[in-house]
Amino acid sequence: MSPRHLLTGTELGRDDLLAVLRRAHALKAAQAAGREPEHPAALRGRSVALIFQKPSTRTRVSMEVGVAELGATSLLLRPDEMQLSRGESVKDTALVLSRHVAAVAIRTHADALLEELAAEGSIPVVNLLTDGHHPCQAVADLLTLQEAFPDRLGPDGGLDDLRLAYVGDGNNVARSLALVGAIAGLQVVVVAPDDYQLDPGETAATLERDPRTGVAGADALYADVWVSMGDDASTADARRTALGPYRIDDALLDAAAPGAIALHCLPAHPGEEITADVLYGDRQRIWDQAENRRHAQKALLEWVLRAGPFA
Ligand code: CP
Ligand code: NVA
Repeated sequence: MSPRHLLTGTELGRDDLLAVLRRAHALKAAQAAGREPEHPAALRGRSVALIFQKPSTRTRVSMEVGVAELGATSLLLRPDEMQLSRGESVKDTALVLSRHVAAVAIRTHADALLEELAAEGSIPVVNLLTDGHHPCQAVADLLTLQEAFPDRLGPDGGLDDLRLAYVGDGNNVARSLALVGAIAGLQVVVVAPDDYQLDPGETAATLERDPRTGVAGADALYADVWVSMGDDASTADARRTALGPYRIDDALLDAAAPGAIALHCLPAHPGEEITADVLYGDRQRIWDQAENRRHAQKALLEWVLRAGPFA
C-alpha cells in the first residue's frame, strides 16, 4: 500500500477532511474532560521524525506533545545535525528514515524537497510549512472556525455557510487556507495588494485588493506576518510599506459581518499586521487557534498512518 502524504492538504477529500476535524474535536473534548483518549495501536511504540529547517514555536511544541499523546515517540532532527546539511541526498535520507520511523514531518524551504522526500521514501510525509504551503495550520484553523460558529455548520460539519477574509501577504498560509478551506466548503477571500496577491489560477479563492471591500460579509478576518521566513530580508521595508493598509484593527473588524472574529496563525507583530487591541481582545480566537494545532495534527497523523478511526 503506498503511503498517504500531507504535502498541500489537497490530498484530503471533503469526507476525509471533515472526518479529520471530527476526530480532532473528539480528541480535544476527551482531553478537556480528563479522559485520556485511546491511543491507536498502530502508533504505540512507533516513532515520528520531525525535521525543522526553519524556526518554529507552535508547530514544534504541538507536534512533539501531540506525538507523545498518541503514544508514539518523536525524534527532533535539526538540520545542522543531519548529513543532509553535508550533502547527503534527499533520496538517501528518505530511504534511511523509511527503515526506522513510521512517518516524517518536515518544515523546510522549497516544496520540491518535500515532494522528493515523499517520492523516494516509503513512509508518510507531513508538511509542517514550506515556502508554498502550511496545511497543518489550515486544518487547525478550520477546527477553530467550527468551534466559533457551531450553529452555522452543515449537517456533515461543512463550512459552506462561512466566509473568511485573509488580509495581507498572499503567502503560504493564505494559499493553504484557500486550498484546504475550499475542500471544506469555506468561502475564502484573499485581500492583498497586487504584487503580494496569490496567482488567480491557483485557487478558487476570491482575490480582492481593497481591504474594506474585501472584508465585507466576512465572518473571520485572518492575519499573518508581512515578512515570512522564506522571504528575502532585503525586501522587508518594501513589504511593510505595501502592506501597511492591510492591518487588522477594530475598524476593519467592524467592516466585516456582525460577530466577526479575528484569527492569526502567529507569530504576531502587534502594530504591524494586527493591532494589540485585536490580538488580545475579546473578538479574537487566536489563542484557541494556537492550541488547536495539536488536536488537528494528532488527527492528521492518525489519518496519514491509517490509525485509529482511519484504520
Ligand atoms: N503558526 C506556526 O506555524 O507557528 P510556528 O512558526 O511557531 O511553528
Ligand atoms: N508565513 C509565515 C508563517 C509562519 C507560521 C512564514 O512562512 O514565516
